[in-house]
Amino acid sequence: MRIALLAGDGIGPEITAEAVKILKAVVGQEIEFDEALIGGAAWKVTGSPLPEETLKLCRSTDAILFGSVGDPECDHLERALRPEQAILGLRRELDLFANLRPARLFPELQAESPLKENRISGTDLMIVRELTGDVYFGTPRGQRKDDQNRREGFDTMRYNEDEVRRIARIGFETARTRSSNLCSIDKSNVLETSQLWRTIVLEVAQEYPDVALSHMYVDNAAMQLVRAPDQFDVIITGNLFGDILSDLASACVGSIGLLPSASLNSENKGLYEPIHGSAPDIAGQGKANPLGTILSGAMMLRYTLKREDDAARIEKAVATALEKGARTADLGGNMSTSEMGNAVLAALN
Ligand code: NAD
Ligand code: IPM
Ligand code: MN
Repeated sequence: MRIALLAGDGIGPEITAEAVKILKAVVGQEIEFDEALIGGAAWKVTGSPLPEETLKLCRSTDAILFGSVGDPECDHLERALRPEQAILGLRRELDLFANLRPARLFPELQAESPLKENRISGTDLMIVRELTGDVYFGTPRGQRKDDQNRREGFDTMRYNEDEVRRIARIGFETARTRSSNLCSIDKSNVLETSQLWRTIVLEVAQEYPDVALSHMYVDNAAMQLVRAPDQFDVIITGNLFGDILSDLASACVGSIGLLPSASLNSENKGLYEPIHGSAPDIAGQGKANPLGTILSGAMMLRYTLKREDDAARIEKAVATALEKGARTADLGGNMSTSEMGNAVLAALN
């Protein structure tokens, strides 16, 4: 197994080091990591946030383990040079259209959730976020002067039917592996893009009569995720809504530092990363929670490398470490990033 290791910016190197430690412990000699520059770290050395060499490596490996990109020192750069373009570029270039973001409550972390026990208990949901379309990639976009010489910014929200159909199928297939409940989240009461989204989801639903499909507007969904998150099983939604709702769901289950993700193409080749960013406020301090990245490593074993047993072993070790009281600062404790990695390592054995 050859894995491209893209640590990136901020806490990226700290958290990926822990995931590599765990993956090596579980898989042994069979897994090999090839490091490459990405994000602001790559821009500083090469002048590009996504160097050609990095992209080439990612195309040639079995999977990608990704930390995070984003650097306040780069916020002044023109858009094409900003670190965030690296992750957007990888998603687009590798056609990683299906983003799976599971949010479940570890029972041990009940007290870390800002929600009362009776609301959060039993929460175990999967957000299936479309990742290569929507307002993120729609054109035209830009900044210009309007007819009264005022500056204006504009973006284009857009999906075609094929893009909606393929992510809808992932949603229905995912629902079949769980409790066969799928909620499609849109804003079809206002947006044309969402109207098409809903129409296509309803068409695809004909192929999956065994899956119970519901629809919800995104504003209500945000409210419901806080009010009663356990009502959701599998969610499908567009790129922008999925971005926002997954951060929201992460806080419900305790911390954004916990949530992993898989970004898959049609052949299940994938990029694996925690859903959070480079956390510049805590970078370099050994405070970051590495569990989202470690759990992303487990997803890599499950979805791309087809080693379900090893994936489950890592997830179980994370649960055991939490059960024994392992807590980084975001979970109200004082363990460092590497101490948390070590706690998971100890629980593996
Ligand atoms: P963020 O997710 O980096 O941080 C939000 C808050 O959560 C911060 O207080 C941070 O300290 C905390 N946090 C995040 N991850 C944590 C972890 N593992 N352990 C403990 N606490 C954690 O979001 P932001 O501050 O809005 O963005 C910072 C930078 O990251 C920006 O440049 C943004 O564009 C970028 N970003 C990158 C990705 C990615 O690489 N996929 C994702 C989101 C944001
Ligand atoms: C995420 C991030 C990215 C996104 C940014 C960094 C481009 O927030 O992966 O959730 O908006 O998709
Ligand atoms: Mn995000």
